[in-house]
Amino acid sequence: MSQPKIITVGSANLDLVAACEHLPAPGETVTGARFAQYPGGKGANQALAARRLGGEVAMIARVGKDANAAAALALLKEDGVDLSRIVEDDGAPTGVALIFVDKAGENMIVVASGANGALGPADVAGAGPADAVLCQLEVPLSAIEAAADIESGLFAINLAPAMPMPTDLLERADLLIVNEGEAEFYGDALYRGEGLVAKTLGRDGAILYRAGKEVARMPVYAVPVIDTVGAGDTFCGALAVALAEGMEEGAALRFASGAAALAVTKEGAQPSLPWRKDVEAFLADKA
Ligand code: RIB
Repeated sequence: MSQPKIITVGSANLDLVAACEHLPAPGETVTGARFAQYPGGKGANQALAARRLGGEVAMIARVGKDANAAAALALLKEDGVDLSRIVEDDGAPTGVALIFVDKAGENMIVVASGANGALGPADVAGAGPADAVLCQLEVPLSAIEAAADIESGLFAINLAPAMPMPTDLLERADLLIVNEGEAEFYGDALYRGEGLVAKTLGRDGAILYRAGKEVARMPVYAVPVIDTVGAGDTFCGALAVALAEGMEEGAALRFASGAAALAVTKEGAQPSLPWRKDVEAFLADKA
């Protein structure tokens, strides 16, 4: 198939990252960290992942009228994501994520949402059609509800970070993507629709369900773990591209798992997102 057209409705952040020996406990000060800043945000990460993995991608998001906006959008722009529907918000700053990453690659993230919190139905209106629409939960529910109305072959929601959702919206999704914590948060409500549910299990791999029944399972690929930030987003972008291309479900899960494995081997959310040729080479080696 030609490049699938993907629309991502979601957040764009600037990630301020401290790489430290261990994650702080409440009240603890950890010194000696190394600082870096990268473009991030679950929406932007998934848009860039989908782009690098073969999609023709457009991003719908809000940033502030500030210097952080250009930094947050830099890699999307460089890699050819369509940014024509990005709105510069007069009243709120670009979203910022404060991230700690320890020497085992585990992380803690606090997001100051800023302009992401003002994304709404008017920003989404008139978008589409697309082969896939991909959303996450770092923007208001009203924007996601509007995204569900975009004409598309695959309406996907990554339920991260978990927040209460109307059951009918969960049922409308063709694809829900959750990690273990999010799966616990939503419980049986995940499986009431007829669509796919992808559940990532960290070191135990990932499972794909259709209408509540397991259709595919992947163990995790053993790779050196440097930084897990953005790995879940890579999985989401990859799965959306693969399914939008018409890849068989098991093959799509394998493609997404391979892409996510490569994403943990480098620092930073967006700088670690792999290109398609790298994922294909990695998987060919595992065949
Ligand atoms: O999923 C990782 C992302 O979560 C980071 O890039 C950060 O911006 C937060 O949104």
